[in-house]
Amino acid sequence: MEGLKGRDLLGIADLTAEEIKGLLQLAAQLKAGQLNWQCHKVLGLLFYKASTRTRVSFSVAMYQIGGQVIDLNPNLTQVGRGEPVIDTARVLDRYLDILAIRTFEQKQLETFAEYAQIPIVNALTDFEHPCQVLADLLTIQECFGSLTGATLSYFGDGNNVAHSLLLGCALVGMNVRIAAPSAYPPALSVIEQARQIASGKTEVMLTDDPVAAAQGANIIYTDVWASMGQEASASDRIPLFEPYQVNQQLLTHADSEAIVLHCLPAHRGEEITDEIIEGSQSRVWEQAENRMHAQKALLVSLLGAD
Ligand code: CP
Ligand code: NVA
Repeated sequence: MEGLKGRDLLGIADLTAEEIKGLLQLAAQLKAGQLNWQCHKVLGLLFYKASTRTRVSFSVAMYQIGGQVIDLNPNLTQVGRGEPVIDTARVLDRYLDILAIRTFEQKQLETFAEYAQIPIVNALTDFEHPCQVLADLLTIQECFGSLTGATLSYFGDGNNVAHSLLLGCALVGMNVRIAAPSAYPPALSVIEQARQIASGKTEVMLTDDPVAAAQGANIIYTDVWASMGQEASASDRIPLFEPYQVNQQLLTHADSEAIVLHCLPAHRGEEITDEIIEGSQSRVWEQAENRMHAQKALLVSLLGAD
């Protein structure tokens, strides 16, 4: 694969299908211990929202390839006190080799990318979660041997994770269905972009009917009903989202060999039942582990050789 040296990853569609497949292959080789890539570079983590998996998996991945990590807690850096992003970006650019940002607005990420030359990686915004989807695709490839033609059905809010799944699945030749309450659909622009990528060769379905979405699906996927920053509306959302719960009843409509994924953190008893997340079809722990392997491949590819 051509490396991705110096590139940004603001959304999953910043990568081509070939680049995603190359990253998954690199991730599999790194996971199997077939490559020993070492660097002396420094990753900054600027996270405005809580994180367990993304923060720890990026850190461990960087340590394992010989690099260092600096946690740029916004509460302890001037950007958290209002220093302009365009100033912070230009300064961090001169210290760091790569910067992963978890924030609210996609626009803020784009501003960092515009003003810093180093690779800027989306570690989750309200709009996309591309690193999550790289790990999801790695997990699906491991479970089914290939991605092409598999059907992923997502149940829940049509926001960040749903957006990256729509685009990522379309790019790698998978069918993708989003079952969301009519008040919480994915952005029209993302649906249109996914349909353009799929160009009629694979399915891109948006529905408010969870049973229709589950029909024969190979991957059943869910995420929290109230994302970070939306906690105030959590109780209002519950009645609208209840029909989209991933439970035993919903799974009866999926393929009998279907796997269940969840990006985590999970709210058991809301978007997924305890029985399903702990059940034999759940692959959520493998999926969580793969965050580290997929992001290690991403770091290796974006940083290139020393
Ligand atoms: N899935 C995910 O991004 O988890 P964290 O919020 O713990 O990083
Ligand atoms: N949609 C969730 C994903 C968490 C990894 C959120 O934004 O909080």
